[in-house]
Amino acid sequence: MSADSTVDQLDDFVSLERGEIDRRIFADEELFERELDLIFGRAWNFLCHESQIPKAGDFFETPIGRDNVLTVRQRDGGIKALLNTCAHRGNAVCRAEEGNTKAFMCTYHGWTYDLAGNLVGVPNIDSYYKGELDKSKHGMRKVAQLDSYHGFVFATMDPTAPPLTEFLGAAGRMSIDLIAARNVEVLPGIQKFVIDCNWKFAVDNTFDFYHAQITHMSAMSIISGTQDGASDSGGATDSAGQDLNVPAAGSSGLEEIAVIAEYGHAIAGPTASAIASPFVDESWRERPEVQELLGPVGVRVGGHPNIFPNAWISTSGPQVSLRIPISPNKTEVWWFTFADKDATPEQRAKSLWFTNHGFGPAGLFEQEDGENWAQSTLQVHGPGSQQVPQLLSMDLARGKVIKEHDLARIEGTSNEHAQLWLYHSWVQWMKGLGWAALREATTPPDVL
Ligand code: FES
Ligand SMILES: [Fe+2]
Repeated sequence: MSADSTVDQLDDFVSLERGEIDRRIFADEELFERELDLIFGRAWNFLCHESQIPKAGDFFETPIGRDNVLTVRQRDGGIKALLNTCAHRGNAVCRAEEGNTKAFMCTYHGWTYDLAGNLVGVPNIDSYYKGELDKSKHGMRKVAQLDSYHGFVFATMDPTAPPLTEFLGAAGRMSIDLIAARNVEVLPGIQKFVIDCNWKFAVDNTFDFYHAQITHMSAMSIISGTQDGASDSGGATDSAGQDLNVPAAGSSGLEEIAVIAEYGHAIAGPTASAIASPFVDESWRERPEVQELLGPVGVRVGGHPNIFPNAWISTSGPQVSLRIPISPNKTEVWWFTFADKDATPEQRAKSLWFTNHGFGPAGLFEQEDGENWAQSTLQVHGPGSQQVPQLLSMDLARGKVIKEHDLARIEGTSNEHAQLWLYHSWVQWMKGLGWAALREATTPPDVL
């Protein structure tokens, strides 16, 4: 596919009218490169939480597309984000994924940078460079913009990107507030592993509450404490899942909500009251300051927010998962697990047990999901299979968008609106629109 034809076809890849997606968007190499450039190279990308780098010299590495970024706590308490590549010949200046250091020394020829990325040491500079190397011109490159919202650190490689709070908008800020309102810190140990899937399958699944009744039948049966899947919490009515009695949004009557927003951020899933269970303590929502921060819609949100493009805020846990694109067929999944700063060791252990059994490489839900994403990715490469459009037509054109409290939301029992909105927004990003035009093109309509 040539670059020209790719651009020409962008509008045809996703149909809001038919609820159809062209499968080539999960397979094409040129589109993948364009994603790295026009989506990951421009969006505000989540780097880490400030609690991970409390002391001067603490650092944590996160990719933005194919750039590896070191987020570093400075001696004055500030934060800088530096590209992990030496200004001499490009070697990585830091081989650890996180840690504490006084300086970054490149292992190739020994150039050394301070915590702010200034070049402070060059071996034999006088005799080899004869006074002609100006150290002040060869510091580590920085991200274009860096900012933190309630302790969540983001960066963009685009100097023209709008400020972080504007990019997040009301929906993105609320997504973070759903964790930040709980006075949390990240527990040590970020889980990192690879799934053989296109990153977008992992992202759109965060809004998919249709699959749980079938995909997560075995995990649900364990959670419900039975071996045959029986539970008291409602019943699946899909023919394949008849009589299984595993909870699933929509088909079991759980109340759902979908919030869609500019730039492609979205939140979808059952409301907080609908998912109340003995496994997840939701009492924090009753605190007055939390209710004030989250607002009348936010306190109801129990589902899954995704900050475009790839930061899933899992409100139970709570956790943040990054779906990092490696190739059209490979995605690195990261899990950051949070705990209340005041939690007792027992509460932390319980939280870790819950999160490790749900997500991550040992998590039941993740293994069940990952199989589907990998198989869906495999099938987009068959020339015949590739011609079958993906369907996101559930509740199509029936989703009345309610605009209030600075948010656009759809109330409903079962729908695929958030997934469709994700792909519509993906097309707009891939067109390379300017920021104002991008915002307009991703502003929710009245009906979806
Ligand atoms: S590449 Fe880093 S010192 Fe030469
Ligand atoms: Fe799932």
